[in-house]
Amino acid sequence: MNINKCEKGFDQESVQLIGILAEEAASELLCLEPLAGEMLEFCRRAVINGNFKAKAGSTIKIPVMHGSVKYVVVHGLGNDKNSLQENIREGSFMVLRTAAAKRCSSVLLCMPEAEDRINSRSAAEGSVLGCYSFDKYLTQEEDEKLVSPELVNVPGADPAGLEEGKILGEAQCYTRDIANEPGNVITPVTLAKKAESLARELGLECEIWDEERIVKEKMCAYHAVAKGSSNPPRFITLTWSPEGICRGHVALVGKGLTFDSGGLDIKPADYMTTMKGDKSGACAVLGAVKAAARLKLPWKVTVIIAAAENMPGGNAYRPDDILRARNGKTIEVNNTDAEGRLTLADALSFASELKPDKIIDIATLTGACAVALGTNTGGLFTNNDLFGDEVLAAAKMSGERLWKLPMDDPTLKKAIKSPVADLVNSGGRYGGAITAAMFLEAFVDKDIPWVHLDIAAADFIKEQRSYYAKGASGFGTRTLATLLMMM
Ligand code: BES
Ligand code: MN
Ligand code: ZN
Repeated sequence: MNINKCEKGFDQESVQLIGILAEEAASELLCLEPLAGEMLEFCRRAVINGNFKAKAGSTIKIPVMHGSVKYVVVHGLGNDKNSLQENIREGSFMVLRTAAAKRCSSVLLCMPEAEDRINSRSAAEGSVLGCYSFDKYLTQEEDEKLVSPELVNVPGADPAGLEEGKILGEAQCYTRDIANEPGNVITPVTLAKKAESLARELGLECEIWDEERIVKEKMCAYHAVAKGSSNPPRFITLTWSPEGICRGHVALVGKGLTFDSGGLDIKPADYMTTMKGDKSGACAVLGAVKAAARLKLPWKVTVIIAAAENMPGGNAYRPDDILRARNGKTIEVNNTDAEGRLTLADALSFASELKPDKIIDIATLTGACAVALGTNTGGLFTNNDLFGDEVLAAAKMSGERLWKLPMDDPTLKKAIKSPVADLVNSGGRYGGAITAAMFLEAFVDKDIPWVHLDIAAADFIKEQRSYYAKGASGFGTRTLATLLMMM
C-alpha cells in the first residue's frame, strides 16, 4: 500500500473511493476543502442529507457514479480530543476496509488537520492495520481474497507522519504474521530463522545459540523448560545500532514459547488452544526492532528471545525439580505450566549483564493478568516509576491499553518463597500476575530501570474489532516502537 500526501487541486481522475473523517460539530466540513467543484458539492450534500452528525464511530457509505468515484465513505471522529488518534485509526480502517471490500484500488482520504504529524501517523497506522488478514492457509478464489488498495492519497498530510505510521503499522502486521503461525510451522529453530532473515534485511547483528551453547551458558532454568520437546531451543539476540546520534541502549526481552502445552502439568484442552500465541512477546520485540531500524531511531536496541517449546515427555522437567538459573539463584518447580518466567529468568539475567540503560520484557505470562484486566489491556510492572510512566505515555499514544499493577505487597512476596530453594516458580492463584512479576524482578539488575508487560490474552483477538482482525493482535509492537521514538 502506497500512502502519500497530495496537494490541493490535485488530479482527481483516478480516485475510486473518497473517505472523509469528520469531527463532530465541525459546522463546515473543512476537511472537504481539497475536493473541487461538483465532487465537493456532492459530498457536502451527502453528509447533510444523511443527517450525519459525525459521532465517534458512526459511518455512512454512499454508492455514487461520479467519474471514477464509486463510493463515498464518511466516518465520524466525535469531539473528544483524548480519543482523537484512536478514532482516526478506526476511521482510516473503516475507509480502507470498505475500499478493499468494494475493490477500489485508489482512495482519497480527507481528514481534519491532516498536516498534523501525529494525525497523519494515526491515519497511516489505521490504514495499514485495518487491511491485515492472515489468509495464507485458506484455499480461496482470487476474487474472495482481501486485496488492500494500492494507493491512498491524503490531501495536505504530513509526509513524515504518513511514513512513520506506515512503518509502525507494517511492523505490527509483521508481528501478527509470525504470531499467527501455528506451532508446527514456528518452532524455536524457525523463529531463529525469521530473526536471521530480519537481520539480513535490515543490517542488524544477529546471534543464535543452540542447545549445547545454552547449557554451556548456564541457562538451566530456560533449558529445563525446553528439554521436554523434540524441537530444540534457540537463544536469539538481535541488535540495532544507529549510525549517528545514540541516546542509549535498551534491551527488549520477549517471551518466546512457540507452544505452551503446560508440560507435565498439562493444560486442559480449552486452555491449550491459542497457545501457539505464547510467542507473542517475542514477535512483538521483533516487530519493534524492525520499526526501530526502518525509522533509524537513535537508540541501540538489543532484542533477546529465549525460544522454547513447553511439552510433556520422557525428558520433560518435573514438578519438584530444583533448577539453578544463570544468575546463580535456585528455583523449585511447583508447576511446569509456569514456564515463561523460567525462560525469562535467564533471558533477563543475560540482558542485565549487558548493562543496558533500560530493560523491557513483554510476555504472555499469566492468565491471572487477563482475569484482572480483561483481554484488551496489558499489565505493566516496574522497578522505576519514572520509566513506567514513559511506557504508559507511549502506550497511550499508540492506542494500546496498559495498566500499572503494584509490586510492593510483602504478603505476595512470601508466595514465591520456597523451603528448599531461593524461589518457587508459581505463587498460586491470588495475585498471580503480580507474583509472576516479582519472580522476574529477582533476575533483573536492580539498578537498571525495568518494565515488565504482561500481555496474556491481549495478544489474541477472539472477535474482529475495529482495526484488529481475528487472531494475533500484535499488541505491544507499536507501544515499544513509539517509546523508542519518544525517548
Ligand atoms: N502462557 C500461559 C499464560 C496465558 C494464559 C497466556 C492465557 C495467554 C492466555 C502461561 O505460561 C501459564 O500457563 N501461566 C499459568 C501460571 C500458573 C501455573 C501459575 C496460568 O496463568 O495459569
Ligand atoms: Mn504455561
Ligand atoms: Zn506460557
